[in-house]
Amino acid sequence: MRKMVFSLVLLAPLLGAAELSGTWKFQPPPDPNAPPNRQPREIVYVFKVDGTKFTGTSVTNAIGDIRNGTIDGTHITFDRLDASGNKAAYKGELNGDELTVEMANPPAPPPGGGRGGRGRGGPVTLKRASDETEYTLPAELQHKPFGPFKPIGPNGLAKTPPMGWNSWNKFASKVDDASVRGMADAIVSSGMRDAGYIYVNIDDTWEAPQRDKDGNIQTNQKFPDMKALANYVHSKGLKLGIYSGPGPRTCAGYLASYNHEEQDARTWAAWGIDYLKYDWCSASEVYHPEELKSAYQKMALALRATGRPIIYSLCEYGWQKVQEWGADVGGNLWRTTGDIRDSWDSMSRIGFDQQVGRAQYANPGHWNDPDMLEIGNGGMTDTEYRTHMSLWCMLAAPLLAGNDIRSMTESIKEILTNKEVIAIDQDKAGIQGVRVRKDGDLEVWKKPLAKGVAVGLFNRGNDTAKISVSWSEVGITKKNPKVRDLWAHEDLKAAESYSADVPSHGVVMLRVE
Ligand code: GLA
Repeated sequence: MRKMVFSLVLLAPLLGAAELSGTWKFQPPPDPNAPPNRQPREIVYVFKVDGTKFTGTSVTNAIGDIRNGTIDGTHITFDRLDASGNKAAYKGELNGDELTVEMANPPAPPPGGGRGGRGRGGPVTLKRASDETEYTLPAELQHKPFGPFKPIGPNGLAKTPPMGWNSWNKFASKVDDASVRGMADAIVSSGMRDAGYIYVNIDDTWEAPQRDKDGNIQTNQKFPDMKALANYVHSKGLKLGIYSGPGPRTCAGYLASYNHEEQDARTWAAWGIDYLKYDWCSASEVYHPEELKSAYQKMALALRATGRPIIYSLCEYGWQKVQEWGADVGGNLWRTTGDIRDSWDSMSRIGFDQQVGRAQYANPGHWNDPDMLEIGNGGMTDTEYRTHMSLWCMLAAPLLAGNDIRSMTESIKEILTNKEVIAIDQDKAGIQGVRVRKDGDLEVWKKPLAKGVAVGLFNRGNDTAKISVSWSEVGITKKNPKVRDLWAHEDLKAAESYSADVPSHGVVMLRVE
């Protein structure tokens, strides 16, 4: 009897293990408020068990990798790694042919309530579906496996941060052929082209719902002839940019380049496209987190194979420390954060706080991208827009105006075309600026230049404040350097240091050499 009890105790975890192994599913009820292509997806968990340990895959609308799984009788715990690079702890309870899984520490519901439950890591009860221990994508979504990742060299483009215009911030899905032509005209007539804004970039929503019979991507009715549009933009001394993504669909739900990478690159090259923004979005539905780099590199190689010089802009919101490998996959620039909005809070958080620790990865041909400019879209004051422009230039950020150039005010035009400030962004040394001091709301920034240093005195507070800087603090050793105020357009006398009253949310930007 004693012997039997002993062996039962020993066997208990192993029995649980055998039961867990395989594929588990939950079929959510249809959502009457969601469009057909946004209906809730089947949830799948696939477990590969080894003793009391397991790995696997979990698929909600995104593929996640299961790591560090442990079985303790009928209780399981594991980590889920998603494409963003975040790991979350899960726990589960096995009950015969049912398995209930939930986040171990679900995030707090958003302020003001919001939906709890499944979408937010709440419990979901799955039913055993098969003994299959490998997850396979539905046949129509499968792709060739990637070989081991190998870095590729630079494409020789974007030796200074790209400058131009992008449709998304102002127009979103309303962008069309006429507005792009109008923007190209206005970029020339406003002096923006001569200030360096060259790329006219169409963001999401140009794509037709279906490919043609040969699988070629097509434009929708808003863009009747993309090649003619490219010719028009080129005739103005400008270049044309376009948008797609590695997943089946773009962020706005339009067709993207999954499994058609080479073909799409050839189409764009034939149209005369000069710049591609490649946005992750639905790619999490078809790629495992560790495939993210290879998925980006695949398009870089496809673009290069066309022989046309096309700037390659990665948009995956900074996931998996993109700054560390953006260059290796062939990117010229990479978004570092989620989407900017036209507000002081959004702009200042992205520009001041979320770029910290990334400067060392910027160099000619490779840029951190804190997102497109909101200057002139109406949500900030001119003082705040001057700070936005100054900060992006200190960061050696791409300068992609996001406003309606056709109708901008004189003061917005002055902000966007301040050549002395733009020169800081476009400096040949290609060094990204950093914060050297923070006293509460007051910040001192420096950006080493090919000749001299740019200095930014930023006031993030609500009242005018005095900010002082000594030249030694920003690495200037020269006695009596030449000092220039880049917004006032005047030379200053400041032998060893400088102090200025900086307005709330404002900036004083200097060139010291
Ligand atoms: C994402 C990107 C934005 C824009 C939209 C288009 O949100 O981050 O910059 O391209 O998609 O759908």
